Amino acid sequence: PEQTAEDRYQSVYHFTPPSNWMNDPNGMVYYAGEYHLFYQHFPDSNVWGPMHWGHAVSQDMIHWEHLPIALYPDSLGFIFSGSAVVDYDNTTGFGSELNPALVSIFTYSNQQEEFEGSITFQNQAVAYSHDSGRTWKKYAGNPVLSNPGIKDFRDPKVTWMEEFDKWVMILAVKDHVSIYSSKNLLDWTHESDFGKDEGAHGGVWECPDLFRIQDDQGNWKWVMLVSINPGGYQGGSGTQYFVGEFDGREFSTNQKEVKWIDYGADNYAGVLWSNIPDSDGRKLFIGWMSNWAYANKVSLVNRRNMMTIPREVSLRRKENDHVLAMVPIRELDHIGVLNTSGDLTELEKGMRTNEAYQLDLQIESMEGKFELVFSSEDKDSLFLSVSHNELIVDRSKCGNVSLATMFSRQHKASLDGIRNLSIFLDRSSIEVFANDGEVNMTDLFFTRSPLQQVQMMTSEAEIEARFEYRKIEVKEPI
Ligand code: FRU
Repeated sequence: PEQTAEDRYQSVYHFTPPSNWMNDPNGMVYYAGEYHLFYQHFPDSNVWGPMHWGHAVSQDMIHWEHLPIALYPDSLGFIFSGSAVVDYDNTTGFGSELNPALVSIFTYSNQQEEFEGSITFQNQAVAYSHDSGRTWKKYAGNPVLSNPGIKDFRDPKVTWMEEFDKWVMILAVKDHVSIYSSKNLLDWTHESDFGKDEGAHGGVWECPDLFRIQDDQGNWKWVMLVSINPGGYQGGSGTQYFVGEFDGREFSTNQKEVKWIDYGADNYAGVLWSNIPDSDGRKLFIGWMSNWAYANKVSLVNRRNMMTIPREVSLRRKENDHVLAMVPIRELDHIGVLNTSGDLTELEKGMRTNEAYQLDLQIESMEGKFELVFSSEDKDSLFLSVSHNELIVDRSKCGNVSLATMFSRQHKASLDGIRNLSIFLDRSSIEVFANDGEVNMTDLFFTRSPLQQVQMMTSEAEIEARFEYRKIEVKEPI
């Protein structure tokens, strides 16, 4: 089919809905050889509306097959964000140990009740599937966790915690998270609250996660992710994290400063995949590559909004502190053709209009700073500036910046030296991973005409670097 004007903004390989509106990733779970991705979806329009759970599956988190909508809104409300798990021990009785059920735990948000002035319109509910998520039944006893009288009460992330022999739910409650536990996913006990006095509080807390992870020195820690909107690092929505301890009931941390998983504007509501087998052992993350400050207005008209590159999460010890690092999943390495060269001339000659590229820089030594500039025929330019102290992504001269006032802000992050840089440029997004994913920036942009040129400005730098690039091409869903 012929390309429409809007199509040129559509990603080459990032996940998008088959049509219309998408926000948060939901219910990511691995089962029987498939990675499932559900998502907040309004199939009838390209702006937010009555929420459904859209659904797709993949064997590599890159090639996705769209499946029918998994959950439709009903008289109890819209289907807001949540998670999914495999009930291997049949704790719910929905399946059997031979044929375990997939169980999704989500928020019913009753907009009618909200409209009528109720504050208890968000409640937690479950649904289950016996056929690898192809069809779902909502539990007859819903809701399973009723609202105690707090307006924002949503986004359950549930994990079977073997070490505590129970299901643990972390839930976003306005300005904090609440932790609940259960033996059967149906009866929930409140364990504790966290966060009223910790972290960033410029907006409502949403889409939390809580997981155990070993740092690079072999120590086990607990990490909590909490999305917040507004009040993110670059304005609008953003995701913070806490490193601490969890005893099955309470999370505690001595972290004083606010930490962010991304220093760009467009990585929100991300959480980890559930039930990744021990034989794999990876912590796998995906986020919504947008921002509530302008998500309903971006140029992605037909399939509005996309997900970030799926990322592998690790925890690194840094002096007396920890940093949560994320790098693109290795599955992405096998796609596209790698070109190796000592400088940028190969790519400067070879870059094609409106394609997706990965650029890797291994920096051996550098003094000063350099700039990478991607530009279009219309002189829209996307700037990346790198020194040992600072990484900057500047989209302020890159096409349509009128989507929100914060859109043209320079995105800066401080660095403790620069060792390597991995840049993923797609038709309307850039994802920068610095120092093996310790400092990342994810940003959307909407140029008047496609980017087609790259230039490296090294006038202020003495730099010795190894350089590689590849064009990334992915066919439509398998
Ligand atoms: C986060 C969020 C969630 C909510 C969903 C509604 O982006 O606001 O808190 O469940 O989106 O679509």
